[in-house]
Amino acid sequence: MKYLLFTLFFVFFMSCKESNKATTLNTQESSAELAMQHPGKELMETNCYSCHNPNTKQGGRIAPPMIAVKEHYKKDSTTKEEFIQDIIAWTKKPSVEISKMPGAVRRFGVMPYLPYPEKDIAAIADYMFTHDIDEPEWFEDHRKQEHKREDSPQQSVEEIGLSYAIATKQILGKNLMGAIQKKGTLGALEFCNIQAYPLTDSMATVHNAKIKRVSDKPRNLSNKANAQELEYIESFKTAVANNSDIKPIIKEEGSTVNFYYPITTNAMCLQCHGSEKEVSPETYKALKNLYPADKALGYAENEVRGIWSIQFNSED
Ligand code: HEC
Ligand code: HEC
Repeated sequence: MKYLLFTLFFVFFMSCKESNKATTLNTQESSAELAMQHPGKELMETNCYSCHNPNTKQGGRIAPPMIAVKEHYKKDSTTKEEFIQDIIAWTKKPSVEISKMPGAVRRFGVMPYLPYPEKDIAAIADYMFTHDIDEPEWFEDHRKQEHKREDSPQQSVEEIGLSYAIATKQILGKNLMGAIQKKGTLGALEFCNIQAYPLTDSMATVHNAKIKRVSDKPRNLSNKANAQELEYIESFKTAVANNSDIKPIIKEEGSTVNFYYPITTNAMCLQCHGSEKEVSPETYKALKNLYPADKALGYAENEVRGIWSIQFNSED
């Protein structure tokens, strides 16, 4: 009941905040009990944490944690109304032009547009502005480093390589997920077969880099790893199996940088790369038709499916 009343009050406040600022609910001053029930918290965790989760390890992130977003949007002089409007404007039309986080765009690609109701975003932004939000352990170090980087904006070759790998992975992942949702696994398979390559190619053009996805157990024979890459795959397998920190392998020759980073499986991949339990008979049949020599089956979660093998020029 209390929750319902609060929600009603909140919705009321949202709908009239434009016309009458005096009704603004200052959650910072409200009781701790009320704060715990702020509807923006749950909305944020369900809608935004799939990408902005503070608990994702640094290497596996696909977006900055929410605390980083907050710190780029809330400066000392920012009012709550401005903050809310800025977050709404962003989610309505994410674009490079209005980004306040160009580094994040470079690293992760622009946030995809998702049709959120404006009142949900307003509630989320209100919560973000008025509450401390979860901060990952590594964030304090990152904050210090970012200050250092502002003095010397040079990106390291490791950062450049990672940004290519992560941006490409994001585009592929987003398109694959979209295709599975729209057309089912079988339909997505066709999409993968035809589209996977042009997609990585278009990323490569953007970054003026050569981006390859190679494997020791390739499905498509043109993705077969060479002897050198096979060696790196083995060392990544050991690192993943031992749960140690995954660091990219970087080989430089003059200004040419060769960058290698593992591609690991998650549950979603197993529909097409798992064992009989996960791969449906129809998918299996279609795979055998398209790729008679397919070796890319029988994987479990969190295994090295292959690597990104990326070459770029550090002086470009
Ligand atoms: C599918 C993944 C995904 C989801 C879901 C998502 N975001 Fe993002 N978001 C990103 C990525 C990637 C970036 C970093 C790149 C960028 O800034 O565009 C980002 C950046 C942002 C930024 C900073 C934009 C800038 O560059 O100035 C804001 C603000 C933001 N997100 C708000 C939200 C809110 C609020 C939600 C939930 C309602 C949300 N995001 C859900 C992926 C996501
Ligand atoms: C809908 C089915 C499907 C799903 C889901 C899927 N893949 Fe694939 N995957 C394919 C197909 C088909 C190819 C071959 C693409 C080609 O012809 O280039 C492929 C190729 C690859 C390759 C290139 C090396 C090779 O074997 O040819 C890698 C690496 C890869 N997938 C990793 C993944 C990972 C990691 C996931 C989960 C995040 C995933 N895949 C999910 C169907 C799928």
